[in-house]
Amino acid sequence: MAIDIHWLERVIERRKREAGEAEARLHPPAMVKEVLEFLRVRELKKGVFVDMTVGTGGHTLAILQANPKVEVIGIDRDATSLEVAAERLADYADRVTLIYGDMRDIRRLLHQIGVERVDGCLIDPGPSLWQMDSKRGFSFLDDSPLDMRMDRSSQVTAQTLLQTLSASELEQLFVQAGERRSDARRIAQAIVKERSRSGGIPTAKALAELVIQAKGVRGGRIHPATKVFLALRMAVNEEIDALREGIFEGAKVLKRGGRLVVLTYQSLEDKTVKEAFAKLAQPADKEKDRPLLRILTKDPIRPSFQERHQNPRARSCKLRAAERIR
Ligand SMILES: C[S@@+](CC[C@H](N)C(=O)[O-])C[C@H]1O[C@@H](n2cnc3c(N)ncnc32)[C@H](O)[C@@H]1O
Repeated sequence: MAIDIHWLERVIERRKREAGEAEARLHPPAMVKEVLEFLRVRELKKGVFVDMTVGTGGHTLAILQANPKVEVIGIDRDATSLEVAAERLADYADRVTLIYGDMRDIRRLLHQIGVERVDGCLIDPGPSLWQMDSKRGFSFLDDSPLDMRMDRSSQVTAQTLLQTLSASELEQLFVQAGERRSDARRIAQAIVKERSRSGGIPTAKALAELVIQAKGVRGGRIHPATKVFLALRMAVNEEIDALREGIFEGAKVLKRGGRLVVLTYQSLEDKTVKEAFAKLAQPADKEKDRPLLRILTKDPIRPSFQERHQNPRARSCKLRAAERIR
C-alpha cells in the first residue's frame, strides 16, 4: 500500500510555496503508550490498523514507528489535515494509505482498496490542535468567520446554524452541550437579537464576546463560551452520530481478536462510547444477536499523571477499548 507519490510531491511543493504563513501547530497525540498497548501493535508479526481519524498523523506515526511490520490506513474527513499527514508520514509511504472520507463509511472505503478485515481500529475524534489553529472559527479568539466544519465540502457551517435556527432551537442545542437552561435561553435570545440588529455575528471572537455579555461573567478557569462553541461544533460536524456509527462500523471490519480503541475528551462522547460498546457486547435481544465485542476497559483509562502534566490538552482524555470475539 502506498500514498500517491505525485499527489505527495504536489502537496510538498504547495506547502513550500506557502511557507512564510504562520504554521498551524501539529496535534500532540494523547495516551500513545496506552493506545499502542491496547491495539497490541508491538505484538503482531504483521498486521493492518485503521486510524479512523488520522488528523495530522500523530498516532499513526507512533504505530508505524512501534512496529516496522505493520501498515496503517488513515481516514479523515478533512482534506487539508490529510495533506499535512501525508507530508509528515512520507518516510513511511510504503506502509501508509491515506483516505479522504468519513469514518462512518469505513467498510466502503476499505473495500475500495481491497481490504475487508483489519487487526485494529483507533478513533480519536474532535478537532485537532491543527484544525483549531486553521482559522475556521473553532477558537474563542479567532477573528475569522464561524465556520467550524472539519470537512470543508459539507454544506452547514456554524454561521448557518446561528443564522437559521430559532431561539428555542439554539437554546436546546446549548442545553444538550451542558449549558444551564437559564444561560442557554439568554444566549439564544441575544443571538437572535443581534442577527436582527446587525445581520449576524461575524466572527468567533464576536460570538465569544456576546456570550460573555449574555451570561454576565468574564474570566474563570473555563471560558464562559466553552459549551456554546462545543454545541455548535458538535452540531456542524454531527460529531456524536459520527462517533456512534464509527464504532459500530469499525467493529464490523475487525478480524476476530482485533481491537477497537476509542479516545474521548468530554462526557457526551464518553457516554456515547460506553453505550455503543455495551450494545455490541450485550445485545438487547440475546436470542437474535450474539455479542460481537468483549469490553476490555470496565472503567475508562485516564492519562498518566506525567502526561496530564506535560500535555494539558490530554487532561480530559478517556480511553475505552474492546475486542472482537467472533
Ligand atoms: C483529534 S484529531 C486526531 C488526531 C490524531 N489522532 C493525531 O494524533 O494526530 C481528530 C481528527 O478526526 C477527524 N474526524 C472527526 N470526525 C471524523 C469522521 N466522522 N470521519 C473522519 N474523520 C473525522 C477530524 O477531521 C480530525 O482531523
